[in-house]
Amino acid sequence: MLADFAAVVDKGTRDEALLSSIDWERLPRHVAVIMDGNGRWAAKRGQPRIIGHRAGVEAVRASVDTGARLGLKALTLYAFSTENWKRPRLEVDALMRMLRRYIRLELDEIDRQNIRFQTIGRTDSLAPNVQREINRATERTASNTGMILSVALHKWRDANL
Ligand code: IPE
Ligand code: MG
Repeated sequence: MLADFAAVVDKGTRDEALLSSIDWERLPRHVAVIMDGNGRWAAKRGQPRIIGHRAGVEAVRASVDTGARLGLKALTLYAFSTENWKRPRLEVDALMRMLRRYIRLELDEIDRQNIRFQTIGRTDSLAPNVQREINRATERTASNTGMILSVALHKWRDANL
């Protein structure tokens, strides 16, 4: 809803122009995002991949906030594809830490925005501390009635390696 953006969008900015061009009658109900290109984004700036992943988390934060304000019914983020599990151990570990940290830092805000958090795909091969964070967020937001935020994960054993 337009009023929901009042506090976060300043007059005369590109965001305001974008906002005013929205046809509110024709918004999609469900938006799904395949997250990709973090590494290339960083490489273009002469930075290590992890910097790209960090920027990716910021993009997620902005997408979740915007989706909820727009009143989307569902936002699905395809965060860890099969290909992601074949990466160097250090990078996979860093991505897992970032997922855990994202949930930890954002859960209050997600709950405040009445968002229902869930994962799709199997989570049972994720590190126990990541699973714990996922379960905590899922349980805490289970009765929320706003946007459904799904993080799509692929279990490595399903990956047919
Ligand atoms: C998306 O970016 C990463 C994840 C969703 C984990 P990539 O890490 O695939 O970056 P590129 O595609 O190599 O640039
Ligand atoms: Mg990629």
